[in-house]
Amino acid sequence: PSVLVLAGGISHERDVSLRSGRRVADALQDQGWRVTLGEPDASLLPKLTAGSFDVVWPALHGASGEDGALLALLESAGVPFVGSDHRAARLAWDKPVAKTVVANAGGVTPRGVALSRETFRELGAPAVLDLVRSSFPLPLVVKPSRGGSAQGVSIVRSADELPRAMVDAYTYGDDALVEHFIDGTEIAVSVLDSGSGPRALPAVEIVPVAGTYDFSARYNAGETRFFSPARISASAADDAAALALLVHRALGLRHLSRVDMIVDAENRAWFLEVNVLPGLTETSLLPLAVEAEGGSLGEVYEAIARRAME
Ligand code: DAL
Ligand code: MG
Repeated sequence: PSVLVLAGGISHERDVSLRSGRRVADALQDQGWRVTLGEPDASLLPKLTAGSFDVVWPALHGASGEDGALLALLESAGVPFVGSDHRAARLAWDKPVAKTVVANAGGVTPRGVALSRETFRELGAPAVLDLVRSSFPLPLVVKPSRGGSAQGVSIVRSADELPRAMVDAYTYGDDALVEHFIDGTEIAVSVLDSGSGPRALPAVEIVPVAGTYDFSARYNAGETRFFSPARISASAADDAAALALLVHRALGLRHLSRVDMIVDAENRAWFLEVNVLPGLTETSLLPLAVEAEGGSLGEVYEAIARRAME
C-alpha cells in the first residue's frame, strides 16, 4: 500500500511534527509500504486528488493538524486518513470544551475557567487575580486553551505569578485555561483501535528529572524518566484505563489518541487533556507504551493505517 505521511505545517509544534512524521514514515517503510513524506502545503490538494495514495497519515501537531481544518480538507478530498474526523478533533483540541464533554460523560477533571485575552484586558490583572483567588485555591495551572507540548504552560504557586502566567499563555492564542492544580503522579494512557474496538495501552508514568514536564523535558532524551507500567496501584491503573476509554468514546475519537492525566494520592485519575494526533517521536509516550507492551511499532502503525483504509 501507499501512504502520504504529512509532517511539519505551520504550528508551534512544527519541529515535533517533523520528528513524528519521520518515525512513522520509517516504521511503515520497514513494513514494506510505499511512503511519501510531505508538508501540508499548497501542493497537497493536487496530490490528494491525483489519487496516488491509499491513505494519509497526518503526523501534524498543534493547530495545523489538531484543530481539524486540514482534516476537513482531507475529508472533502475523500481520502482516507489516520485519526479522528475533523469535528471530533476540533472538540478535543479545545481544552475547556474537551473538559466539559468529559465531565458530562462522567469523567473527573480539575475545576477550571477559560479566560479570553479580551476579558483579561478589559477586567485588568488585579480584578482577574481577585476573581481567580476567590474561586480557586493555589496552586493553579495556566495554559493556552489550544496548544500542545506544554508550550505556554505555567504552574502558579503564589498569586503574584498569575498575570505573568496569563500573558505567557496568551502568546500561544487568544484564550487561556486556568485550572486547579492536582498534585500526584503524571501519566499518559494511549488508546488504539485497529479494528476490534478501542483498547487502552499500559499507562506511562512521567518523571521529569528537573521536576517539570516542559518542552525540553519532552524532547531531549534523558531529561525525563518513564515507567511503564506506571508505578500506581492496580485500581488506579484500572481507573486510568477506564478514563482514557471514556474520553476516547465521549469525544468520538478514532484509531488513536493519548489521554494525559494525574493520579492523586487517593488513586483517582483526573483528566487533563487528550491528543488526537499524539506525538510519535523517539521520546514520545504512545510509542513508549507500545514498546512497553512488547508490541512492534511497525506492526501497530500498519494495523492503524489499514484500519483507516477500511
Ligand atoms: N502535542 C504533542 C505532540 C503530544 O501531545 O505528544
Ligand atoms: Mg497535548
